[in-house]
Amino acid sequence: MNASKTFHVTTFGCQMNEHDSERMKGMLESLGYAEAGAQDGADLILFNTCSIREKADSKFIAYLQQAAALKRRNPGTVIGVGGCWAQSVKEDVFRQFPYVDVAFGPGQVHKLAEFLNSDSLTAQGFFEFEGFTGHLPMKREREFQGWVQISAGCNMKCSYCIVPATRGRQVDRPLDELVAEVRTMVDGGVIEVTLLGQNVNAYGRAVRGGERSSFAALLAELDAIDGLRRIRYTSPHPQDMKEDVVLAHAQLDSVCPHMHLPLQAGSSRVLKEMRRTYSRERFLDRVALIREHNPDIALTTDIIVGFPGETEADFQETLEVCEEVGFDGAFTFIYSPRRETEAAEFTDRFVSHEVAVDRMERLVEVVQRRAGERAQRFIGRTLDVLVEGYSRTDPSRLRGRSAHGKVVNFTGLAQPGEIVPVEITSATSQTLAGEMSLLARALA
Ligand code: 5AD
Ligand code: SF4
Repeated sequence: MNASKTFHVTTFGCQMNEHDSERMKGMLESLGYAEAGAQDGADLILFNTCSIREKADSKFIAYLQQAAALKRRNPGTVIGVGGCWAQSVKEDVFRQFPYVDVAFGPGQVHKLAEFLNSDSLTAQGFFEFEGFTGHLPMKREREFQGWVQISAGCNMKCSYCIVPATRGRQVDRPLDELVAEVRTMVDGGVIEVTLLGQNVNAYGRAVRGGERSSFAALLAELDAIDGLRRIRYTSPHPQDMKEDVVLAHAQLDSVCPHMHLPLQAGSSRVLKEMRRTYSRERFLDRVALIREHNPDIALTTDIIVGFPGETEADFQETLEVCEEVGFDGAFTFIYSPRRETEAAEFTDRFVSHEVAVDRMERLVEVVQRRAGERAQRFIGRTLDVLVEGYSRTDPSRLRGRSAHGKVVNFTGLAQPGEIVPVEITSATSQTLAGEMSLLARALA
């Protein structure tokens, strides 16, 4: 047994990685390892990496060098690197960073256990996609919220995106397996699940070891599980956002009134260069369809500025779409060239950093102003808030999320994991504030 051994995991990047890290932690605890509060002193230092943007790479490398220094002091330390960055450099990791002992891709989390249990800890890499982590034990940050990976990989070819190169073709998990997994989670106290995939609404076409299905069918089956109060998902692709999923939001109680629908750019010309497979008009059509059936839904998005060849006129179109749609929030990114992607070759059309930063600032101004305006619709309403803990700025207040995905800071008495009615008294672009409605609670 490894009863006295400890591990430390640092996670970079998206929710998919957060989820895989929970699996890693669960797996390590079942092997007898205990979680250490810090890297310093841990027997196993793990990184779950991301390669979506260059900044993520450099941040991670700084951390890795810190771990190398700890290993110099304590040569028995094992350093492991998992996730997308590891997958993108594969065996090169050992050449560039000789102090790394084990490296594995996103489809290889279970190999970590095999590696740790083997007799000789000689450097090894595992990069073939072999399976989902669904069957592995998991350690959840909050016992009432869980993530479920419904598919891996992506069949789209967005010209800026490294995911198809690192995570490969899309593979979906069978519907019955997903339903059984969520049922088990709900039996264990989970009331909110977030379904994860690179292109979730393409779910069902590439099921490994099961029948074809659809994302809308999956939502309906999960909605039928007693005790599951909230279903979220991220991210869908506008191309595959069809009426069945739009109607699922309108008809299924547990499917939250929030959709994260990545726009990326507002100019049809840039969208074409990005290989996004939709135009500005088609995106706006989708939004109209979504709002026709779900007038109150919160819409959030991802936008990239400074894509190669983006002109001021193209960028103006992105601003126009943001004005017109009025997103409830947006993640905004400056384009970053990624190895093994088509757009990284467009070097003659790269936009200068100053221009990109200037566009980003103007975009954030529009996005925040519109989000702030949209948020005013909640004032005076009583929203169901899932309590997550204390307010980050004022620990005498509670913090939670509305079904729309909005952070709500409020006064009241409640435990994490409870859903309580909160009367909203003020709203900014990022957060809502309010008071727990005791009367509504007494009547509930
Ligand atoms: N440069 C900048 N942003 C990117 N994204 C993906 N690849 C890149 C890149 N090369 C953004 C997209 C995506 C989000 C997860 O990250 O907006 O939706
Ligand atoms: Fe990347 Fe496009 Fe696939 Fe999203 S849909 S993971 S942006 S290739």
